[in-house]
Amino acid sequence: MSGARDRVVVKLSGSVFDLDMASTITQYASVFREVSGSVQPIVIAGGGREARRYIDAARALGADESSLDEIGIEVSRLNARLLAFAIGMDLVHPSVPRNLEEIGMAASTGRIVVAGGLHPGQSTNATSALIAERVKARLFINATDVEGIYTADPRTHRGAVLMKRVSIKELLSMLGMERFDAGTYELMDIVALKVIQRSRIPTRVVKADPSTIREAIQGHDVGTEIVAAT
Ligand code: UTP
Repeated sequence: MSGARDRVVVKLSGSVFDLDMASTITQYASVFREVSGSVQPIVIAGGGREARRYIDAARALGADESSLDEIGIEVSRLNARLLAFAIGMDLVHPSVPRNLEEIGMAASTGRIVVAGGLHPGQSTNATSALIAERVKARLFINATDVEGIYTADPRTHRGAVLMKRVSIKELLSMLGMERFDAGTYELMDIVALKVIQRSRIPTRVVKADPSTIREAIQGHDVGTEIVAAT
């Protein structure tokens, strides 16, 4: 297998792992297997409900915030391992990378890489943007539990409209004006936006379903495209 294929970084929302695990994960895995002939997928699993369950319990038991982040990271790595089994160890790098250096080494093998979180104090979105920067990804896809980026949180604002394209500048000002409720609509946080801005990483926020992710990887205009220019 050569390392020369274009790299595509996909952040898979932790919500994907909340459902009927084995059958749902199988569907995502077959997309990554299928596209791996033409691109090299680097996939980052979120923590989902299971991470929040562990975090809530550990918080009630007196754990400090950075320890809670480490628990979230460990759960996301468990999710990553499930996805790796589903893709098949013939195509996947055999271990889950634990830092950016290991991500770089794993990517250089040309195999599919599956990771969870890396550092406490970050969202999986910010971590995934840093990974996209490190591996010089052609495309960063943030696969989330809504169709893309809306003018307001679609779960609480009935009039929210899906944006097909939005600039980083506009998103930063929306975050600054707190048009998103803190902690409820952070599809892209400030760290993630700053990273994709400084390295001009082509980025798309899409619905986490297998066929939409396949379309996004193939370059179709799905979800919301984040553009660097104003
Ligand atoms: P996330 O909250 O990012 O996972 O990680 P998620 O379920 O995919 O979230 P959505 O789908 O984007 O909403 C779970 C927790 O793990 C810790 C944080 O505490 C985070 O809340 N974490 C994760 C880190 O501290 N660093 C990382 O790099 C990743």
